[in-house]
Amino acid sequence: MSTITATATSPIWRPFTQMKTAPTPQMVQTGRGAWLELEDGRRVLDCISSWWVTIHGHGEPVIAEAIYEQAKKLEQALFTSFTHEPAEVLAENVLSVVPSNLKRAFFSDNGSTAVEVALKMAYQYWLNKGSKTRNRFIALEHGYHGDTVGAMSVGQSSEFWRPFKVLLFEIDSIPFPATWISDKDAEEKEAESLAALATLITKSPDSYAAIIVEPLVQGAAGMRMCTTRYLGKLERFAKEHNLLVIYDEVMTGFGRTGDWFACRKANTQPDILCLSKGLTGGFLPMALTLASENIFQAFYDDVWEKAFFHSHSYSGNPITCAAAVASMKLLHERKDTYTGKEQLHLKLIEKYIEDHPRFTRARVCGTIAAFDLKLEEESGYFASVSPRLRARFMDRGFVIRPIGNTIYLLPPYCITSEELESAYKIIYELCLEENL
Ligand SMILES: Cc1ncc(COP(=O)(O)O)c(C=O)c1O
Repeated sequence: MSTITATATSPIWRPFTQMKTAPTPQMVQTGRGAWLELEDGRRVLDCISSWWVTIHGHGEPVIAEAIYEQAKKLEQALFTSFTHEPAEVLAENVLSVVPSNLKRAFFSDNGSTAVEVALKMAYQYWLNKGSKTRNRFIALEHGYHGDTVGAMSVGQSSEFWRPFKVLLFEIDSIPFPATWISDKDAEEKEAESLAALATLITKSPDSYAAIIVEPLVQGAAGMRMCTTRYLGKLERFAKEHNLLVIYDEVMTGFGRTGDWFACRKANTQPDILCLSKGLTGGFLPMALTLASENIFQAFYDDVWEKAFFHSHSYSGNPITCAAAVASMKLLHERKDTYTGKEQLHLKLIEKYIEDHPRFTRARVCGTIAAFDLKLEEESGYFASVSPRLRARFMDRGFVIRPIGNTIYLLPPYCITSEELESAYKIIYELCLEENL
């Protein structure tokens, strides 16, 4: 056991944290399955998969073993000059479970870089094809695509990026048709969104490189969900108007939506697909940006200038690839753990959420469930109820981090029915209390 304890004087500058006011973080010692064990011996149930990455569960021995074995063989090789078995196997395995139009796999390090790669790829695709005007992107309102400058630019309507606004490039955005269980207006909202898209394209038909979408679920926006029908319509429109479609499945990939990917669930074929988070089962950082053969062919040329200019030191790291290969094998073997969660969530929502006086807009997509607290105070990402609730859930042994007034559950797939029900129970009870 560690002899180091968590203190307020630690030199670590934590992400997305106001260091002056944030509580001292808890020291976590071990992770097993859906549980984390803290330094004081308490166990807490990880109901959000440690920022949406831990898909099978913590400490999964099959992945740990694969990492160990690979580390003994080859830990790193520069990816411009060499390839290796774990990367080749991984590329082949991933391409075998995505829509068949996707044929090429580009490696990077995290969700944000997967998006940067996608944006640069889409832009250079048009450049290589001789179009100099297609230099703008369309995004969905409130979308989040990561924290690097390009990813922030296409996610700027989420308002997280106010301090950096002047650094970002301009985009155009259309409404995201957010829907929930028993919502009667979904089709109307979808029509509005597509009409806004049509207006943009009619006005400037040759200005756009691509539209970027978080398909089915906008995560950081508060688990806002849309229908598969909308994605189908969006795709048809884009194809008719020569607009590339980028799917950011950094959060929705690898079983999260109850299928391998949202694009499979919706039966759609994006031109570019961004993957990360669950790719390695939550063990190591890595990302893939997959592209159609059509995109790849625009770069495939005798001239060096048409090559895709992007790389990272750790691109295609062998240990990370080995972890991803092992994780995908588990996803094939343990399909029930993620395909069955939607029904379980729906049952528990009916039991604990639907008639709760404080909740509204319950929604479910695969392993993800979310609902909004009715609030008198201002809602949105910075609603002050969020840190208060987070602390109370933690006191009761649950890692649940509301996004503004949205409470959501996005657990590792190994969570049992009883464990998941205990999370619903605690949400039910805590949110009945007077002073939230
Ligand atoms: C949809 C989506 N895209 C991109 C990112 C950025 O990923 P990363 O934090 O690995 O850079 C996230 C992170 O939450 C995300 O949810």
